[in-house]
Amino acid sequence: MSLYYNDDQKLSMGQLSLDSLADHYQTPLIVYDQEEIEATIHKYQEGFRQGLDLSDQAKADDFYSISYASKAFSNVYLLRLMADWGLDLDVVSYGELYLALKAGFPADRIHFHGNNKSLEEIKFALQAGIGHFVADSFEEIDRINDLAQDEVDVMVRLNPGIAVQTHAYIQTGQEDSKFGFSLREGLAKQAIDKVIACPKLNFIGLHFHLGSQVQDPSVMLETAQLVLDWAHDQEIPVQFLNMGGGFSIQYQEEDVAFDVQPGIAKLAGAIMDYCQEKDYQLPKLGIEPGRSLVGHTAVTLYEVGTIKQVPGYPSYVSIDGGMSDHIRTALYGAEYTILPTTKAPSNSSWKPKQVVGKLCESGDIIGKNKPLPQSLQVGDRLAVLATGAYHYSMSSNYNLMLKPAVVFVKGKDHKLVTKRQDIDQVLQNEVFD
Ligand code: LLP
Repeated sequence: MSLYYNDDQKLSMGQLSLDSLADHYQTPLIVYDQEEIEATIHKYQEGFRQGLDLSDQAKADDFYSISYASKAFSNVYLLRLMADWGLDLDVVSYGELYLALKAGFPADRIHFHGNNKSLEEIKFALQAGIGHFVADSFEEIDRINDLAQDEVDVMVRLNPGIAVQTHAYIQTGQEDSKFGFSLREGLAKQAIDKVIACPKLNFIGLHFHLGSQVQDPSVMLETAQLVLDWAHDQEIPVQFLNMGGGFSIQYQEEDVAFDVQPGIAKLAGAIMDYCQEKDYQLPKLGIEPGRSLVGHTAVTLYEVGTIKQVPGYPSYVSIDGGMSDHIRTALYGAEYTILPTTKAPSNSSWKPKQVVGKLCESGDIIGKNKPLPQSLQVGDRLAVLATGAYHYSMSSNYNLMLKPAVVFVKGKDHKLVTKRQDIDQVLQNEVFD
């Protein structure tokens, strides 16, 4: 991300110091770099154009689809930006679909995921005229067919039986999984046959998603090849192959970030070559990244409220948020880079410190043993990097904490895109009499 210390030693994004934004909007505050989001989208698009060797005249929609997985973070401003850039959208719930439609996202560019879509969700999506469903159970196939008035496009989600290296909670393509139809014992084939046999359903292709924060992208290619071979053996026509999301970002120096443009070019090019070699028809290729479109593009700003010495242990630096807006460390043991928003004096020594939230449990950790300057004081601010995905969207009101505000920065401009919650909003469902 384009973070740097400016001449006044202030950590900055675009042309703005993060402290100036924190002064203006208060903390905790999530700040996105819009230029970084746009640059990343562009890299994805260029990757496909390069990999598939597309001419300038070729229409993207005929060859590839980049869907934003809105669960990573969705709000009206971002959804409109994604729509303007020509992306498609992945939603997994009534709420995500409702917000997307309210934001004016074109319904026909939205597809609906989920292992247990309710009747209400299916009805709502049909009424809205979404692009397609990604069917994930036999029950769902019946439900869509029963409820549809007109023909509706359906893709079938496969479980390819591949366990990728990532946290167990965010693996999805392993054999023992609630997602997709297993390739084994004819289950996926049965699902596809069922869709094809349903009069209201139009089978458009296959989907798989292996997991999230997958640091070795070669597994996506291997899975795509496996699925194409399987489909060929089963005589299943594949017009469209969606390979899901899961491309990694860098949280800490040792993490491997997916190198978007060459990575997509390589993936798409290799599938094209494979199809040529095997004499398969090249399907339209789809991906649905969430984290790698926005995760690296935001920081969360906090203010230090107390610094507690514990003899014999690293001191505790408590900030004004916590696991209510930063759950990934407690949930997955995720590690982040944490920087002071004012550069430490060059003679300051750095010591490991426990950066913790203000919620009432010891698991409320932002970062364990994080190197921070000894000069850090109460009132200073910290920036936690790469909090653009699965932070706001996973935030909660535990301890009746309020969800933070979200701001977008572009160059020297900043815009509030989600307001800070207030306590009356949180309490609005209480029955007082
Ligand atoms: N497609 C499907 C079907 C998915 O289930 C997901 C993520 C994505 C795409 C987007 O994956 P991404 O590109 O963002 O890795 N809360 C967890 C992540 C859960 C991901 C769920 N599905 C976390 O904070 O790491």
